[in-house]
Amino acid sequence: MREKDEILRRTEAFVRDKMHGEGTGHDWWHVDRVRRMALRLARDEGADPYVTELAALLHDIADHKFHGGDETAGPRAARAWLTEAGADPADTEHVATIVAQLSFKGAGVATPMSTVEGKVVQDADRLDAIGAIGIARAFAYGGSRGRPLHEPDAAPELHDSFDRYKSSTGPTVNHFHEKLLLLRDRMNTAAARRIADERHRFMEAYLDRFHAEWDSTDG
Ligand code: ADP
Ligand code: NI
Repeated sequence: MREKDEILRRTEAFVRDKMHGEGTGHDWWHVDRVRRMALRLARDEGADPYVTELAALLHDIADHKFHGGDETAGPRAARAWLTEAGADPADTEHVATIVAQLSFKGAGVATPMSTVEGKVVQDADRLDAIGAIGIARAFAYGGSRGRPLHEPDAAPELHDSFDRYKSSTGPTVNHFHEKLLLLRDRMNTAAARRIADERHRFMEAYLDRFHAEWDSTDG
């Protein structure tokens, strides 16, 4: 087995190389922000910083959104990498479980996390989906899928299954109502809830302006 520092260093290099320059908001800097936020939350929550950092680094390594909806691709890729990198088998399984449980799966679908390390990585990933950066990522992802910014006549859908959520093709403004504005109340930790509250209010103000400009009622 290799030393933990060496495994972290090699994992960072592997992920950076794979995700650098990606254009849908799932790039290396998303991973880096999630890692830094997860480690900050881990200190408050007493989570193991090593497993937290590894899971944050590997959480989007093979996301279902880029693998034909296959939810097993992420945990499999994380497990394969950590095995190759020489990580402890129990840590490897823990990280693979976190990666498997992490994603948002629809407004009406629960996504429980079984360990404190998983809770802080999930909160950090969700914090990066809201606020100013979250807005930028939503439109970047929507554009990459050819989605319109907004369709005034298309009502948001609160998906009650992961399959329906995955196959939705709605405009990006609807995604705020289908996911982003729901995340504040789904944070696992108190510190993340506090940060989410400020980012949430920023998104509400942003949407108010968006609609005012759309309707030419601003200024
Ligand atoms: P998760 O695994 O929970 O979906 P990710 O780290 O993969 O989390 O990030 C999801 C990002 O992709 C978010 O920033 C989110 O806004 C964006 N996204 C996902 N689905 C859509 C969509 N239908 N329209 C716009 N953005 C989307
Ligand atoms: Ni992510």
